[in-house]
Amino acid sequence: MTKPLSVGVAGLGTVGAGVLRLLRDNAALVTARAGRPVAVTAVSARDRTRDRGVPTSGLRWYDDPVALASDPGVDVVVELIGGSDGPAQALVQAALAAGKPVVTANKALLAVHGAVLAAQAEQAGVTLAFEAAVAGGIPVIKALREGLAGNRIDRIAGILNGTCNYILTTMRERGREFADVLAEAQRLGYAEADPGFDIDGIDAAHKLSILAALAFNRPVDFASVHIEGIRTVSALDIAFATELGYRIKLLGIARRTEAGIESRVHPCMVPQAAPIARVDGVFNAVVAEGDFVGRVMLEGRGAGAGPTASAVVADLIDLARGRMTPVWGAADAALSHLPSVPMSAHHGAYYLRLMVVDRPGVIADVTAALRDAGVSLESMIQRGRAPGEAVPIVLVTHETNEAAMRGALDAIAAMDAVLEPPALIRIEPA
Ligand SMILES: NC(=O)c1ccc[n+]([C@@H]2O[C@H](COP(=O)([O-])OP(=O)(O)OC[C@H]3O[C@@H](n4cnc5c(N)ncnc54)[C@H](OP(=O)(O)O)[C@@H]3O)[C@@H](O)[C@H]2O)c1
Repeated sequence: MTKPLSVGVAGLGTVGAGVLRLLRDNAALVTARAGRPVAVTAVSARDRTRDRGVPTSGLRWYDDPVALASDPGVDVVVELIGGSDGPAQALVQAALAAGKPVVTANKALLAVHGAVLAAQAEQAGVTLAFEAAVAGGIPVIKALREGLAGNRIDRIAGILNGTCNYILTTMRERGREFADVLAEAQRLGYAEADPGFDIDGIDAAHKLSILAALAFNRPVDFASVHIEGIRTVSALDIAFATELGYRIKLLGIARRTEAGIESRVHPCMVPQAAPIARVDGVFNAVVAEGDFVGRVMLEGRGAGAGPTASAVVADLIDLARGRMTPVWGAADAALSHLPSVPMSAHHGAYYLRLMVVDRPGVIADVTAALRDAGVSLESMIQRGRAPGEAVPIVLVTHETNEAAMRGALDAIAAMDAVLEPPALIRIEPA
């Protein structure tokens, strides 16, 4: 039989243990598809005594994950520790320097150091594979880099964080507030004890920066992503969205414009009829628009041991077969250097919700501020007259410029009659 691919796995947590389990349970079909056995021979984690749910006896154990890179019996290093720096970064650098291919699920590492690591992999002539880093079990990296390789991609948009999608879905279905649903998600294990990376949009932005690098063949540029999370989304806005025919989703969007590449993560109102509006709960989805293929949507589980292991093993099978693709789909020298477009240049329609004191002249003042900034209104909802008390006013604008909208918002927020910071949600076409 052909020589097995010998794998060293660093990190035996949710994903690492999942990979060991998949390789054990599906050994025969993986061998057939890889053309040879794929065998884990060495591992690293912090706690040697912890039960991983899969046997690790008989495997070489390293307390220091970086030692996997210099184990002569390891053909490929799988990094499943996590974090943009520290041991994960040290291990990946050491493996590439030793001329060993790397498979990782680490979006934070790729978003922050991906440009340098990709150049290092290319110089070493080895693969840096990361199917599991974006949208877990959805094979979106392969789809963008290989399946859609004949297309000029103009836009990608995705639900890239299952925790946020679960929270927004539950808020809508049960009419509950954000803090309440977040606490429940933490109890159920759908949200981390420290949920900041998820709910503040950082995790989605890490993934978006990777997708944008693939879609537009340019080095990953996390710093250029405009990021807003979901903490400020209220049950009231979700109810108004429904009334207006929208769903609120946290989307990551990267778009080719005349000025360059716009990339942003923020809550969006998407038409209820759009396929992505119906992706609920912990599910993820990515929509890609190519000039020849048109629109493609992929949906599935974006996290969890099984889906993420599925993606890691797909990369291992490619390696076993000798299939190799440049990290961002084109060689370093062939990458484009399209500029990043700042959020202030964004063009789109907006939903604006104000809590105002119900008294004569307030609406005239608000609409005048919008007019003065060059923002035109498409519709307005004013409900429940309660003279002297707080009432919501909802305004939907025609397409306008972000800088103009921000100017109007500053003027409106400064008005005496406006009681809370205005809620602003961008409306995104399907
Ligand atoms: N969980 C998911 O659904 C998912 C989905 C997509 C991508 N990812 C990515 O996959 C990676 C792993 O995530 P995970 O959820 O599996 O994390 P996890 O459950 O926290 O596991 C991390 C593992 O790394 C080990 N580790 C931490 N520091 C170490 C060190 N200094 N030396 C050696 N081992 C060390 C831990 O060892 P001990 O067990 O001994 O503490 C643990 O086994 C992350 O990059 C994550 O972003 C995760």
